[in-house]
Amino acid sequence: MLRSLLDVVPVMPVVVAHSAEEGVGIARALVAGGLPVIELTLRTPEALEAIRAISAEVPEILVGAGTIVAPGQAKLAADAGAQFLVSPGTTGHILHAMQDTDLPFLPGVGTVSEVLAALEAGCTELKFFPAEASGGVDFLKSIAAPVPSARFCPTGGITAASAASYLALPNVGCVGGSWLTPADAVASGDWDRISSLASAAAALR
Ligand code: 3PG
Repeated sequence: MLRSLLDVVPVMPVVVAHSAEEGVGIARALVAGGLPVIELTLRTPEALEAIRAISAEVPEILVGAGTIVAPGQAKLAADAGAQFLVSPGTTGHILHAMQDTDLPFLPGVGTVSEVLAALEAGCTELKFFPAEASGGVDFLKSIAAPVPSARFCPTGGITAASAASYLALPNVGCVGGSWLTPADAVASGDWDRISSLASAAAALR
């Protein structure tokens, strides 16, 4: 069992895969760049198949399922081999479904009240989404004193240039982002480019 999802890598790669092969190629490129974690989002019909393939063919990466937006997706992702779960927002049903899998998970929050509700449910490690649109670094700075027990993976609108300002905050463990896997690099199988973006991100902390 993981000690903390927030302390594995400085940048959690948020990935869209259109086939199992694409997912495996991306996973290998991220590992080669020094980022052995992937949040494979459930945004394509092939996402579960990609999670299954990555867990079978790239065992050195920690593969999680992202974009859990309905309770039933939690078990489907766990059954496909996901080792952690991430949701962009949190309802009671989604929270319970993620808890029922016994996997580590990051529930999504975007407001102070949602942070407090997640803490009440026993979750101290949270995805802050959509980070830039919800107040970004200023939001996280503002709640560090009143709500010190919450730690975050801010995601949404973060770039290679802005990641460091988030990582400097005491209540941020890692940031998430899709900038490591540009759509054109994925489509053309430019794994070297993804590896070099990953290695720049791995060096951020
Ligand atoms: C997510 O689901 O975490 C976001 O879509 C990632 O946001 P980004 O594409 O702005 O990095």
